[in-house]
Amino acid sequence: MIGTSVEKAAEYLRAGEAVAIPTETVYGLAANALYQKAVTRIFEIKDRPRFNPLILHIGDIDQINVFAENIPEKAFELVKKFWPGPLTLVLKKSPLISDLLTAGNEGVAIRMPNHPLSLELLKKLRFPLAAPSANPFGYVSPTTALHVERQLGDKIPYILDGGQSAVGLESTIVSFLNDEPVLLRAGGLATEEIEKITGELKHRTHSSSPLAPGQLASHYSPDVKIILGDIKENLKKYAPEKVAILSLSEQFTDVPVQQQIQLSRTGDLAEAARNLFASLRSLDQLPVGIILAELVPEIGLGRAINDRLKRAATPK
Ligand code: TXA
Ligand code: MG
Repeated sequence: MIGTSVEKAAEYLRAGEAVAIPTETVYGLAANALYQKAVTRIFEIKDRPRFNPLILHIGDIDQINVFAENIPEKAFELVKKFWPGPLTLVLKKSPLISDLLTAGNEGVAIRMPNHPLSLELLKKLRFPLAAPSANPFGYVSPTTALHVERQLGDKIPYILDGGQSAVGLESTIVSFLNDEPVLLRAGGLATEEIEKITGELKHRTHSSSPLAPGQLASHYSPDVKIILGDIKENLKKYAPEKVAILSLSEQFTDVPVQQQIQLSRTGDLAEAARNLFASLRSLDQLPVGIILAELVPEIGLGRAINDRLKRAATPK
């Protein structure tokens, strides 16, 4: 059921159930992070492998001291500047955090989401929420309540509707487990912004190990095949009526307009980020064999957009 009652969502969560919640990045599938049975439900509903850890969502900056230890000064600076917001930090976990949540890792991933309904919800609860993106494992993340309803509607009792996610890409993840901060996932906060505080970040965003499923080469994938590259060139190889197009701002004359999506007419990367996942979903519904897509400029949110496009284009 979709609704806008924060109290109803709170009741289900207190009862140990999993509900979908809106955040500024993508919708999350949330449950009591301190209750093993509830966390286990998340893995079951998503069909997510147990070795993939979950992000802890808190409603108050100070709770970082309860759930993490040995927090470096730079991490505090980032939190002060960017929370609530699309930034997740991996920090040494406190004893309150279970191995189930972190998949046995010594670090816990924490963020404070920036959405009025979820902040209100978190403040009502006496426990933090574990929340991965509310999609079946491997598929595109949801940015509206309807996206969640279509895929997980029969598995969860409630979807808290907070409108379209304002950022549209999952949070940027930075690990502070080693001496120097490491970027684990490009996301909704541009790395340039983070580097103003941390200095240049090391990158560990590609991994065949399951430490972060968002790091797997193939993830965030629609079912239709995506071919990345120069759209005009690629159009020479396929019948125009048989392809869909996902471009940043350009329209192509031979392809029917209803088979084309421009992420942002003005080439604005924040707008493109907001539209990316919904666009992949709607193109995935078309009776075409192929989506032709192009990379966007590798600056600001463009880095995360390109990351998601490349993973979506990698065969499962
Ligand atoms: O924007 C977001 O981060 C959204 C919303 C709902 O908050 N959540 C999200 O969760 O994207 P999920 O589970 O789809 O992706 C979380 C990523 C995964 O790649 C996971 O491996 C990584 O965070 N992660 C979680 N805990 C970790 C840990 N302890 N150490 C390293 N990576 C971790
Ligand atoms: Mg996910």
